Amino acid sequence: MIVRPAVRQDAAGIYDIETESFSVPWSRESIDHELEHTELTRYYVLVRDDGYIAGYAGLWRVTDEGQITNIALRKDVQGKGYGELLVRVMMEKAFEEGCMDIFLEVRVSNIPALGLYRKLGFEVLSVRKSYYSEPVEDAYVMGCQKEKYKWAVK
Ligand SMILES: CC(C)(COP(=O)(O)OP(=O)(O)OC[C@H]1O[C@@H](n2cnc3c(N)ncnc32)[C@H](O)[C@@H]1OP(=O)(O)O)[C@@H](O)C(=O)NCCC(=O)NCCS
Repeated sequence: MIVRPAVRQDAAGIYDIETESFSVPWSRESIDHELEHTELTRYYVLVRDDGYIAGYAGLWRVTDEGQITNIALRKDVQGKGYGELLVRVMMEKAFEEGCMDIFLEVRVSNIPALGLYRKLGFEVLSVRKSYYSEPVEDAYVMGCQKEKYKWAVK
């Protein structure tokens, strides 16, 4: 598996993962738009040796802040360290590009995602009531300052 920047041709694979992972997925048009407007967006894909798109992650960069938009892996590759690899590549690139803080929202019941974000150095900043639909659920707003990021031990 490798992680590389996403290109327009990855949109179909990303859309497939999006619809398999979320009850209210982004539309194909939104994904195309995200991949085309690279002045602000940074998308990465996790790719198997045969070219199969196994996961993706995206971030918007506005001045010195990053906002993670989405992260998802195919079910058969979850729990093997690839989600962590993908998010680390995206965050470290954002820090290199000048981001000082990275933010995200996550369902309060999403234990695997919360575990991953806490491991990387994210902290809960606030709760957005009923932020999600289908099912309705609160979101934690989490943030990770560059100096609090827990770099991987090589
Ligand atoms: C959330 C997601 C991206 C995590 O990726 P992953 O590849 O499954 O996670 P990893 O194997 O890289 O695990 C990294 C860390 O996450 C945490 N984690 C992963 N699975 C976990 C679980 N089932 N329970 C608790 N913590 C978990 C652990 O801290 C783990 O570190 P460790 O192995 O040292 O304990 C992935 O599960 C996924 O795509 N889920 C569905 C979509 C989704 O919920 N996206 C997030 C939206 S905010």
